[in-house]
Amino acid sequence: ASIFEYGSAANPDMRPIPVLVHPPDLHERGETRVIPFDINDFLEIEESCTSPNLMASFVRIVKGEAIETSANATSQAFYVIRGNGTSEGEHGKISWSTGDLFVVPVTRGKIHHVCVDAESMGGAALYWVHDEPLMSYLGVNPSSEKKFEPTLYRREEMLARVEEIKHASDRSNNRCGVLLGNTACSQTKTLTHVLWSLLNSIPAQSVQRPHRHNSIALDLAVAAKPGVYTLMGKEIDRNGFIIDPIRCDWVPGGVFITPPGWWHSHHNESDDVAWVLPMQDAGLYTHQRTLDIRF
Ligand SMILES: [Fe+2]
Repeated sequence: ASIFEYGSAANPDMRPIPVLVHPPDLHERGETRVIPFDINDFLEIEESCTSPNLMASFVRIVKGEAIETSANATSQAFYVIRGNGTSEGEHGKISWSTGDLFVVPVTRGKIHHVCVDAESMGGAALYWVHDEPLMSYLGVNPSSEKKFEPTLYRREEMLARVEEIKHASDRSNNRCGVLLGNTACSQTKTLTHVLWSLLNSIPAQSVQRPHRHNSIALDLAVAAKPGVYTLMGKEIDRNGFIIDPIRCDWVPGGVFITPPGWWHSHHNESDDVAWVLPMQDAGLYTHQRTLDIRF
């Protein structure tokens, strides 16, 4: 047993979540493989992870080749950065192409991914996020009960919804995004009961004012010209500007971490619309009533 003095032990000294980048050149060349964004050493966590709850990886599949993935997870999301192909497992088989996103519930076996073709770089790239680190922390295997059905979000459907919103007058300023929901998560309005995702556009020459939330964000820059970046920091001043921010430039196909609780604003100084796809553990936080999102 350990019995601590309350005042000195109530806020233990733990490694903070860092601002780090998983660059796109990792999935643009080389052999077929999974490329984990593994920072568990930095976080002093025993098992592989990108954040305490989530693991994010790239999957590169050379044209005409295949790879199998597996995770001890309740939720797995795959976003197609590039290419077209198929994924098949115990929940069925789907065909995907650039810009599609799909989620699968607890999967005991492996998922078999095949790249049929790719528009560039000689192969497909997937952005893969799942909650195995949360299972590892709890020391559990998910029950075989599916918490949701496998769900596919087609690029065309997401973009069509964005267009609709763009023309609606009640949208919040400079925020033109679609939250990806699941019929099984009607209360939290999230991608799965754990995962949360958004397809967010930032118009040319515009700024999305700072906001913060207790979930971590693992942001995939989908499309951005030079001059698109996120500013992040722990505090804002009385005018709502982030104090001493860290600047993180968006590189298309790359992922960056936005630490939980940090204020962040998106800036587009280019002449083209920019797109970002954050993956978060915000399903879990919303369920716990602890997301505390503030704009
Ligand atoms: Fe955010």
